[in-house]
Amino acid sequence: MKEKLEGLKKEFSQELEKIKSSADLESLSNKYLGRKNGSLTLLMKEMKELPKEKMPLVGKLANEIKEFLLSQMSTAKSKLENKNKSDNFFDPTLPGTEQPVGHLHMVSQAIREISAIFEHIGFQRERYPEVEWDYYGFEALNMPQGHPARDEWETFFIDREPINKKFGQRILTPHTSSGQVREMEKNILPIRMMNISKTYRRQIDASHSPMFHQFEGLVVDQDINITHLKGTVEYFVKRFFGPDREIRLRPHHFQFTEPSFEVDISCGVCDGKGCKLCKEGWLELAGAGMVHPNVLKAGGIDPKVYGGFAFGWGVERCYMMKSGLNIDDIRLLYKNDLRVINQF
Ligand code: PHE
Repeated sequence: MKEKLEGLKKEFSQELEKIKSSADLESLSNKYLGRKNGSLTLLMKEMKELPKEKMPLVGKLANEIKEFLLSQMSTAKSKLENKNKSDNFFDPTLPGTEQPVGHLHMVSQAIREISAIFEHIGFQRERYPEVEWDYYGFEALNMPQGHPARDEWETFFIDREPINKKFGQRILTPHTSSGQVREMEKNILPIRMMNISKTYRRQIDASHSPMFHQFEGLVVDQDINITHLKGTVEYFVKRFFGPDREIRLRPHHFQFTEPSFEVDISCGVCDGKGCKLCKEGWLELAGAGMVHPNVLKAGGIDPKVYGGFAFGWGVERCYMMKSGLNIDDIRLLYKNDLRVINQF
């Protein structure tokens, strides 16, 4: 019996050393001191079978061992608790760990900025279908079937039979101008519409991506003339590119505006003096013009009473031309390379 008790003590000490958590400690305590099956408990029950004269001695030893187990376990317990405390120690004076914070894509940033600029002068943002009818993309804009001007918009056609003759084929809208007649058809005048959306053309190189964004302004009202167009464009350019930039209108041709212009802005690199980038001091920015009477008619508006102007520009192009930014390939904007995106 004496050996058994001593063996138990030794075995216990070895097991105690391996303990890592309070759960381990609890199962160790059960193993030795559990009421029913604890090995010391069982030994103590066995002791009752011993001859009477041996009882006091063995009993004393058994009690000493029980005390030993209890005190060892309580030391182990407080050690574990201290360790937990130091693991969880919170020092409020340490600097915090910084969480990575994302930001809007540069094209979204540009769209927000452009919307805010036009909002100030009363333009309201509207939305139109990205998958559009030939009618709104071309026909209603004074470009009938087969008209050579259509070639400039290298259009993606959807491979489906047209549902009716008027609307023609489905297309991915190649420019935001497809919103013009849709807006007029709402029959609410005057119009100060801003359409910023995705546009699609079959072109891909350093300055073209098959999907890009345009923003289009359309104003229809009485007594509208070219000075309104020029003033609006100038206001935008100075707000977006900076107060030192100048604009000029150059005669151009669009089927849906008459007269039509291309808008140039003075180069930000050389201040309009002429450099490697701009050659003669001006950079070509966008198309604009006075709404063609046929377009007003298509939208159910009487061109004798109402007039209007429109302009349509590339969002990415404007963003890339903004002073200080030097992106030489539009496709970089859509590669989702964080090394690029995180710089803006
Ligand atoms: N839609 C024309 C383009 O994509 C731009 C434009 C818009 C021109 C409005 C005149 C008026 O090139």
